Amino acid sequence: MSTESPVQKNEKGHTHIRWMICRDMSEVLAIENESSEFPWKEEDLIRCLKQRNCVGMVVDYDDHVAGFMFYELNRESINVLKFAVKKGYRQLGIGTAMINKLFQKLSPDRRARITIGAISSSQPFFEKYKFSKTDILVLSRPPSDSQAIKDKRFFVTMTAPEDKPQINEVFPECFPENEEGSCFEKELCGAIAFVSGPKVVSIFDRVLEAVEKISAESGQSDKLAGTVKYIERKKELEMSSTGTVAGLILTTQIEDVSQAMIRDMLITPAWQKDADLLKKMILHEIVSNCGHLFAEVKKEDLPLFESLGFKQIGQVMEYTFNENTPRPAE
Ligand SMILES: CC(C)(COP(=O)(O)OP(=O)(O)OC[C@H]1O[C@@H](n2cnc3c(N)ncnc32)[C@H](O)[C@@H]1OP(=O)(O)O)[C@@H](O)C(=O)NCCC(=O)NCCS
Repeated sequence: MSTESPVQKNEKGHTHIRWMICRDMSEVLAIENESSEFPWKEEDLIRCLKQRNCVGMVVDYDDHVAGFMFYELNRESINVLKFAVKKGYRQLGIGTAMINKLFQKLSPDRRARITIGAISSSQPFFEKYKFSKTDILVLSRPPSDSQAIKDKRFFVTMTAPEDKPQINEVFPECFPENEEGSCFEKELCGAIAFVSGPKVVSIFDRVLEAVEKISAESGQSDKLAGTVKYIERKKELEMSSTGTVAGLILTTQIEDVSQAMIRDMLITPAWQKDADLLKKMILHEIVSNCGHLFAEVKKEDLPLFESLGFKQIGQVMEYTFNENTPRPAE
């Protein structure tokens, strides 16, 4: 079998970057399948494109789609979700052209940051263009072989009183026999651990209040704006009369998709004392209820995620634009 690439390095084809259209889907999927160890399916890509702030772009190279990228355009940053060049078309400057396209969307005083969860093998490419590694790791966990997945259930909050014996079995330390006053002991029955997915159990005003409070305290309003909207939409569907909010897990790619990305875990100040335990409980619930999971987590949370079967596959990298930051030549 010949290993020769369809185009030779330095042979300049005509490169044009444009918005993705329906007709590109099969070529994009082919690139995704050969480039990613955990490829998104067509429904994942479509769902992503339906989000108001998500953009899909492709690179036309002599009448072929030779690369594509998906990114979220946030107020203060661009978050790249997918970035790949077709095998045989790599090392020709196509990745650089896509990076340049992203750089054009930056401005020093408004949107000045690009982030990407970069797998280990691509990190030198992004380092070349002055991306630096953050302390956020990218983790992956294969799907659990549970009935819940077969039933296509997704995230469920773990808050009902009848859950207590089961939780106690998995995490005996949640309800220490002689220790009175643990906030789990007192409040677990009503705690909203996180909010996400089609099987959301309870959504109500207090969740929104907590999101807004956490948002103000943590300065993550940009990241949380979508969550607020999502909760508002879902609020109409289900209401609950009891509960205190303990924290939230922020995700992307929720509902009916084969993969999910955990973006952040926020625990309210009142629950900080038991934060580690709470995170463990919530994660346990998630991994036993959904498909392939990814997570972007801080280094200090790595042992917790590893204990639940996650493995590190990369690291979030970040580019911050200022007038002195060099950009690649066009
Ligand atoms: C990483 C990737 C996007 C690079 O695209 P590309 O079109 O080959 O990149 P370019 O041709 O623009 O390369 C620009 C420079 O980066 C270098 N480079 C490209 N990929 C590299 C890599 N993986 N490691 C080190 N250097 C790399 C090239 O050698 C070139 O250097 P030069 O200018 O000194 O010759 C491509 O290899 C790819 O699609 N990989 C699989 C998917 C992936 O890893 N995506 C990243 C997000 S997880």
